[in-house]
Amino acid sequence: MYEFFSHSDADTKAFGERLAKLVAPGDVITLEGDLGAGKTTFTKGLAKGLGVQRNVNSPTFTLIKEYEGKYPLYHMDVYRLDEDEDLGFEEYFQSDGVTVVEWASRIAELLPQERLDIEIKRIGEESRAIRCTPHGKRYEALCKELSS
Ligand SMILES: Nc1ncnc2c1ncn2[C@@H]1O[C@H](COP(=O)(O)OP(=O)(O)OP(=O)(O)O)[C@@H](O)[C@H]1O
Ligand SMILES: [Mg+2]
Repeated sequence: MYEFFSHSDADTKAFGERLAKLVAPGDVITLEGDLGAGKTTFTKGLAKGLGVQRNVNSPTFTLIKEYEGKYPLYHMDVYRLDEDEDLGFEEYFQSDGVTVVEWASRIAELLPQERLDIEIKRIGEESRAIRCTPHGKRYEALCKELSS
C-alpha cells in the first residue's frame, strides 16, 4: 500500500493531476471512501491532468459520464447501483480510455483483476489519507513512480 496525504481540496486535485501523467489507455482506477471524502474531487484533478476541458461533476444520477481528453475518461459512480448489477462495465474496462469508478466495491465481482484501488480517508476537516493499492505489475510500477 502506498500512502499519500492531502491537506486541502486543491491538494487532492493536484494528486489526481499528477496521476494523470502516469496513466495509460485501458487503466482502471477504483475509488473508495465515505461520502464527501474527495473521490469526485480527485477525479476532477485527474481529468484536468488529462486535458479534459469540460467541468467534471458527480455522475451520481447518470452513473457513467464520458469526457474527451488525451484519452477518453469514463467516470462512474455506482453508489446507487444494485450490488453487482452489470451495466456493460467490461466494455469500459477493456476500452482505450481511463476508467474511474466511485464506490467500486459495490461491483467487486465485475472489476478487472489488474487495477489501482484508491481509498480516501478523512483524517481531519481538510486532511485526507490517500491509500493506493496496486493490483498487477503495471500499477505497482505506477505507484512507485508516484511516490518517487
Ligand atoms: N483534502 C481534501 N480533499 C478532497 N476534498 C476535500 C478536502 N478537504 C475538503 N474537501 C471538500 O470535501 C468535499 C469532497 O467532495 P467530493 O464530492 O469530492 O466527495 P466524494 O467522495 O466524491 O463524495 P460522494 O461519495 O458523495 O460522491 C468537497 O466539498 C471538497 O471541497
Ligand atoms: Mg463523488
